[in-house]
Amino acid sequence: MVPVISGMLGVTANRTYSIAVIEGDGIGPELVHAAKRVLETVGRANEITFDYTYLDGGAAAYEQSGTVLSEDALRTVRHAAATLKGPVGLPWVRRPDGTEAGLLGGVLRNGLDLYANVRPVRLLPGIESALRLDGRTIDYVIVRENTEGLYASRGKGVGNEHAVADTTLVTRPGTERVVRHAFEVARQRSGAPGDGGRRVTCVDKSNVLRSMHLFRSIFLEIAVEYPDVEAECLYADAAAQALVLRPEHFDVIVTDSMFGDILSDLGGATVGGVAFCPGGNIGAQAAYFEPIHGSAPDIAGQGRANPVSQILACALMLDYLGEHAAALQIRDALDATSSAGEIRVDRSGAVSDGTAQVTAAVLRHLAAMAVRG
Ligand code: NAD
Ligand code: IPM
Ligand code: MN
Repeated sequence: MVPVISGMLGVTANRTYSIAVIEGDGIGPELVHAAKRVLETVGRANEITFDYTYLDGGAAAYEQSGTVLSEDALRTVRHAAATLKGPVGLPWVRRPDGTEAGLLGGVLRNGLDLYANVRPVRLLPGIESALRLDGRTIDYVIVRENTEGLYASRGKGVGNEHAVADTTLVTRPGTERVVRHAFEVARQRSGAPGDGGRRVTCVDKSNVLRSMHLFRSIFLEIAVEYPDVEAECLYADAAAQALVLRPEHFDVIVTDSMFGDILSDLGGATVGGVAFCPGGNIGAQAAYFEPIHGSAPDIAGQGRANPVSQILACALMLDYLGEHAAALQIRDALDATSSAGEIRVDRSGAVSDGTAQVTAAVLRHLAAMAVRG
C-alpha cells in the first residue's frame, strides 16, 4: 500500500510529533508564524503536541553559510515526523551556473526521494474565481511527479555559453509509484465536483515525446489495477485549456514535474490565486508541506501576504500524520472564514485586511467551532 496521506511516522504514545520547521525567505517567516498559531490551536484542542526544530534553509542560509541546507538539517528533516516549510528562494541569489541558489527542491525532493508532490486545488466558499463559474465549483488534486522529468536535470545541464542541454528522465519505477499514488488519492476522495466521477487524468505530451509515451503507457497499465476509478488521458496543452473551461470535470491529475509545476499555478489562479494552494512532498520515509508559491519578495515584510496556503499546508501535514480530525477542523475554520467574507484578496493576490487580521479571523472561527462542539 502506498503511503498517501496517513503515515504514522515518528508518532509516540502521547501523540507528540517532531516537526522540523524551515521558515524560508521573503514572506516565508510571516506565513509560517501565522500558520503555526493555527496549528498550535488545533493541537491543543486535539491533545496533540508538536516538538519543533527550527532549521536554516534557503537563499538567506546560502548567503550566510554557502550552503542552502546543511547535512545536519537534512538529517533532521529525514527523521522528523514531518516538516513544515515556508517558500524559499530570492531571484537575485544565484549560483555560478546562473540558476537560483536558494531553492530546496533538489536537496529535499531528490535528496529524500519525495516522489509525490500532492497539490490540492480547491475553491473556498465565498472566494471569487477568475473564471465565470455560474454555480460550478473547483476541487481537484494535482499529483506531480517530483524526482524525475526535466527537473531531474537541475544542476546537471551540460553546455557552454552558446548552447546548453537539460535532459528529461522518465523511468518505469518512478512512474509506477507516482501513478499508484494518484489512484490511491482518488480512492480517498469523493470524485469530481461536476459529476461525482472518481477519475485520474494523465497529463502528458505523448504525441511528441518518447519519454512521455512511456509515462502514459505505464499510467494505462496501472489503471487496470483500479477498475473503480476512471482513467483518461489529455495532452498538456489541451489540459491547460480544460482546467480553465471545465475545471469541475477534474478529480485527480497525474503528470510530470514541469507540467505539474505550471498547471498547479494555473489552477491556483482559478481559485483566488496561488496563495490558496498548499503542497505535500511525500516519500516512503519522510515528507514536507509548503505553499505551492514562492517567497513573493515584492510584498515581503508588508503584512499583506495571504496565509491560507501555509495554513492549508498544516492541514495536509496533519492528514499525513493521521490526525484527520484536526486537519478537518482547519479546513472547516478556513471555509467559515472565507464564507463570512473575511478573506478578501486583491488583484495581486495579497489580502486586503492583512495577514494578521485573516489569521485572527481563522482563529476566531476555530474557537467558535470548538464551543459549538
Ligand atoms: P511567487 O509565487 O513568489 O510570486 C508570484 C506572485 O504571487 C507575486 O505577485 C507575489 O506577490 C504573489 N504571491 C505569492 N504568494 C503570495 C501570498 N501568499 N500572498 C499574496 N501574494 C502572493 O513567484 P516568483 O516571484 O516567480 O518567485 C519568487 C521566488 O520564490 C523565486 O526565488 C522563486 O524561485 C521562488 N519559488 C520558491 C518556491 C518554493 O519554495 N516552493 C516556489 C515557487 C517559487
Ligand atoms: C514549485 C517551485 C519549485 C519547482 C522551484 C522553486 C524549485 O516552482 O515548488 O512549484 O520548480 O518545483
Ligand atoms: Mn512552481
